[in-house]
Amino acid sequence: MATAASSSLQPTLHKPFLYPKHPQLCRNSQFRPRLGYSSNGVRFSTIRATSSVIALEPSSSVEENRSSEVSEVFACPVCYEPLIRKGPSGLNLEAIYRSGFKCKKCNKSYSSKDIYLDLTVTAGLRDYTEVKPAGTELFRSPLVSFLYERGWRQNFNRSGFPGPDEEFKMAQGYFKSVEGGLLVDVSCGSGLFSRKFAKSGTYSAVIALDFSENMLRQCYDFIKRDGALLNSNLALVRADVSRLPFSSGSVDAVHAGAALHCWPSPTNAVAEITRILRSGGIFVGTTFLRYTSSTPLIVRPLRQRVLQNYNYLTEEEIEDLCTSCGLTNYSSKVQQSFIMFSAQKP
Ligand SMILES: C[S@@+](CC[C@H](N)C(=O)[O-])C[C@H]1O[C@@H](n2cnc3c(N)ncnc32)[C@H](O)[C@@H]1O
Repeated sequence: MATAASSSLQPTLHKPFLYPKHPQLCRNSQFRPRLGYSSNGVRFSTIRATSSVIALEPSSSVEENRSSEVSEVFACPVCYEPLIRKGPSGLNLEAIYRSGFKCKKCNKSYSSKDIYLDLTVTAGLRDYTEVKPAGTELFRSPLVSFLYERGWRQNFNRSGFPGPDEEFKMAQGYFKSVEGGLLVDVSCGSGLFSRKFAKSGTYSAVIALDFSENMLRQCYDFIKRDGALLNSNLALVRADVSRLPFSSGSVDAVHAGAALHCWPSPTNAVAEITRILRSGGIFVGTTFLRYTSSTPLIVRPLRQRVLQNYNYLTEEEIEDLCTSCGLTNYSSKVQQSFIMFSAQKP
């Protein structure tokens, strides 16, 4: 069980001009925040560069006597007020684990459970248990979470999914204009794409977010095998896509791989994604189509009934959903039942 760090000295890790929107984050994960201690035990921060230029900030200029501060990213899932954070700043696993979060308005506290930060409305409930629709509950199973990257996901290729490497490349193409920003990988599962985004060094930070506790645990198991990932700006957050724990307009990029069909309400989810994106922010998603233009007319109603546990949409419905939430510049690529679509917050 994680507890909030009690240090009263919170280092400012980065100068605001490096990355004005998220002053606690560095623009490129090659420049990683490092916490340390000077000889007199006072905490200091450095910025370590993997290139030949090493920037060192003297501890005296960066120390600030703060024990808590308004979270740079996270908001209360109940009222969307920015959370107050107590503990070290930064969006890496260790800093989040050692931090406690609180909503001053709702007086509700949030902390890390195991290795992920639980920012669901249900966090801390003692008596009430909520059972979600099948598309959500299925992936909470430990077995499905274990098998997901060990065969389950590979099966998607049969429906036209190009495979993780190619899908990642395609998504990176759509995200060109938001490089250096904060990316949230919504419904990340066991982190197949979150790990690739974090490793690419393209983003200031990556938040791997899912509703499934076991998917997040599995995600951590993969991360801990890779030292570079463990130290990167990659955070694990449990949240419901219908109640995203971020302030409005605070996120540069949202990725949602193979997820839309699993969401209990695609309209609520896309509305939430639109809310958290900043102006110019990009949403990229993939899913299975209910049918394509080549599916025989006689088969179409059948597919609708057979697949009723999931929200499989058509190309037109996905575009309609995005544009009705106010997103613009919609574009998509289709291969059999696979669709990758992208849209932008105006
Ligand atoms: C098929 S997996 C996709 C995993 C990964 N993004 C990929 O591309 O392979 C769908 C994911 O959606 C998540 N999910 C389902 N309902 C959700 C909800 N209400 N909020 C957040 N995530 C949800 C599941 O837990 C699951 O990990």
